[in-house]
Amino acid sequence: MFEHIERVPGDAILGLIEAFKKDTNPQKVDLGVGVYKDAQGNTPVMRAVKEAEALLLKNETTKAYIGSHGDPRYGQAILPMVLGEGSPVLEAGRASATQSPGGTGALRLAADFIKSRLPGKGIWVSDPTWPNHLGIFPAAGIELHKYPYVDAENRLDFDGMLATIKTIPHGDVILLHACCHNPTGFDLSREQWKQVLEVIQERNLLPVIDFAYQGFGEGLDEDAYAVRLLAESLDEVMITSSCSKNFGIYNERTGCLIVVAKDHEQMENVRSQMAIVARENYSNPPAHGSSIVIETLYSAELAAVWREELTEMRDRINTLRRDFVEALKPYGLDQKYHCVAEQRGMFSYTGLTPDQVDRLRDEFGIYMVRSGRANVAGFSQENLPYLAKAIAAVN
Ligand code: LMR
Repeated sequence: MFEHIERVPGDAILGLIEAFKKDTNPQKVDLGVGVYKDAQGNTPVMRAVKEAEALLLKNETTKAYIGSHGDPRYGQAILPMVLGEGSPVLEAGRASATQSPGGTGALRLAADFIKSRLPGKGIWVSDPTWPNHLGIFPAAGIELHKYPYVDAENRLDFDGMLATIKTIPHGDVILLHACCHNPTGFDLSREQWKQVLEVIQERNLLPVIDFAYQGFGEGLDEDAYAVRLLAESLDEVMITSSCSKNFGIYNERTGCLIVVAKDHEQMENVRSQMAIVARENYSNPPAHGSSIVIETLYSAELAAVWREELTEMRDRINTLRRDFVEALKPYGLDQKYHCVAEQRGMFSYTGLTPDQVDRLRDEFGIYMVRSGRANVAGFSQENLPYLAKAIAAVN
């Protein structure tokens, strides 16, 4: 039966982990998969997370199932973080959180719900987008379309984006990145978000907002601007939230799907369906990651430590962005790559071509996605001179 199954290449992003490990170049640099790295190139466990885990080890009394919506305390902590303390959406009881295995799990819940409960809708994603978006929605049976996002000069193509979303069929789904756009790092301004909102209203689109990097752009509240604008202005919105990055608990698979409905009654209806979608996928989400988040956010002391660490990570990335451009100055390449200093979040669409990326890997042991996406957190004061020299060599 299996004789007809063909071997396919591995995932382009996750495959970089293995390729990097195998490389024996002592100067190798990993700018591939989106995990935070400290100055030593390690992806550490955050101090607040370690403390929360110590408390869990001491106090945990059961490993019983936590239910298809997950631990209610997790939703109660994440909803105000995403929608804002005192949010009118929360006060109206219009929002529900269903815990999921990471942001990817939340996207799959959204996709399965849309396919089975709102049939016939296509989804529109930015071009480019996180490659897994291109897998998840078609895997659920949803037709996928693209709207432009960057132009040939590697700049945000807002006019192109707006022009295309004005043509999206009424009632279709639009996938938006709340902040720290993956893979480009180009985010919309507040003014641009308002224009997008107007088109969404005109065409009655259902936004699915991918919010995987809350806290990595400008700050926890600042990064939530678009999410809150859309949730407060529209009857229906879906938000996929993740704690993988801002808690550094990538392998604990901790996220949730937030559904905002027109009123409390409709929210409860959708929520009841979402429990079934979750049950049919994986039954119950894993509990360890959400327990860490709960221990942290329900303790004023630990929450403060966590916020401080998140600020340190964000500031470090933003400093490295500017330092990268500085390092390219001696080669006359600072203007060419200036976009890196302006982009936000973990990633930069550098403008390096696939051929240049291949040369960086083969000749210098520098690993990034072939689209030219670099994980900025992989830069360090030690490797920037080497990176700059290598980039100059392939230019
Ligand atoms: C990335 O884009 O590198 C991360 O979101 C990790 C992943 O799963 O692709």
